Amino acid sequence: MKGAARMTEPLDPDPFERARKSFVAGIEAFESGRLAEAEALFLASLEALPGRPSTLVNLAATRLNLGRPAEAVEPLRTALAAQPDDAQGWHHLGVALLELKQHAPALEALDQALARGVQQPVAHYRRGLALVALERPVEAAQAWERALALDDRFVTAWVDLGSLMRDLGRPEQALRCLERALALGADDLLIHFQLAGLKKTEHTPEAPPPAYVEQLFDSYADGFDEHLVQALGYCAPQVLADGLRRLTPARFRHALDLGCGTGLCAPALAPLTERLDGVDLSAGMLEKARALGRYTHLARADVVAHLRQTPHRYDLIVAADVFIYVGALEGALAGIAQTLTPGGVCCFSLESCDESQDYVLRQSLRYAHSGRYVQRLAQANGLHLLALEPHPLRRDAREAVQGLYAWMRKPAAGDGQNVPG
Ligand SMILES: C[S@@+](CC[C@H](N)C(=O)[O-])C[C@H]1O[C@@H](n2cnc3c(N)ncnc32)[C@H](O)[C@@H]1O
Repeated sequence: MKGAARMTEPLDPDPFERARKSFVAGIEAFESGRLAEAEALFLASLEALPGRPSTLVNLAATRLNLGRPAEAVEPLRTALAAQPDDAQGWHHLGVALLELKQHAPALEALDQALARGVQQPVAHYRRGLALVALERPVEAAQAWERALALDDRFVTAWVDLGSLMRDLGRPEQALRCLERALALGADDLLIHFQLAGLKKTEHTPEAPPPAYVEQLFDSYADGFDEHLVQALGYCAPQVLADGLRRLTPARFRHALDLGCGTGLCAPALAPLTERLDGVDLSAGMLEKARALGRYTHLARADVVAHLRQTPHRYDLIVAADVFIYVGALEGALAGIAQTLTPGGVCCFSLESCDESQDYVLRQSLRYAHSGRYVQRLAQANGLHLLALEPHPLRRDAREAVQGLYAWMRKPAAGDGQNVPG
């Protein structure tokens, strides 16, 4: 038996030799994917020979692969203090800090790695990720162009550069990048969705791929409230709540917040309702909403699927800044009509488009809807339109995005003709 054999083996009296043996075995374990064993071996090696930089760097790399970036930082900092020219050590530190969302020090570490000769395209790519997070998109684009100059088959870099070019208002370059990504086998659905936003000729998809929405909002969840409310002047929750006070008795028993996100609607709705539930696709956003402690029940689901299957009935349903990510609204309005109690109210915000079409997909990859479409859907689902009003939604590239706000009521038994239409 292996264990018994080890017990009888005399301990190597030479600490350097012990450290070397553990180190070599650690490298072998790491390379064969036995990461927990590799970590233990590197730790044993460090016990015999504390502070050896190459062992510390390998220990950190193992912890990064184990998904524990926080525990990689300290060994890397110690190794780099002793051996500041270790380019790969700086690269690992950049990766760890990037994963920890410490973007400014991550950028510094990646710059050090590149200055010391790291050649991997992925180092430039990661530098771009840090720069995007630091809101330096032009430099991020340059970093991704560098990554692609080193490896023009780097699919993720083409996809991200395409999205960034779209954000930077450079549709021609965005198209070129996304088409290249598609040719290299990038996720078809996702790329076609982006191309549809860029090409006027492309068929407008009825909905975005759910993975797109999920990824987008999982990545936005940190700092979402601050960015939206303070930087972009987002006001939909308040406009919707003010309308409820103006147009309805504004006393509700049980409300549902569709696409509740981080819960920005909760403070505006809390004074109007006894109970508030929420539903959202993004686990990251829901985690923030849960931490608020204002929702009775939160579900992770697509809004239309949730409306179809929820056993609850609500006298208020709200969707603030959500339908811009839903697209065609037939399913959502039918679900709302089914889920509202008689006499119940729903309200939502949209981005508005001209009246010649039902909805369009904008270059921003958000949908915009026409008032005519909203009126038609209300009527088709037996909902009385209480009000349909234009009002700004938020700013985008410093311009106010024009919003369209709707409040509707499901007739109660005996409403007859007295309900405003
Ligand atoms: C711009 S945020 C708005 C969040 C919140 N309503 C507010 O006013 O701050 C849009 C939210 O809708 C969610 N969302 C988009 N499409 C969805 C869908 N089909 N089903 C469920 N949630 C969706 C996103 O995950 C995101 O949290």
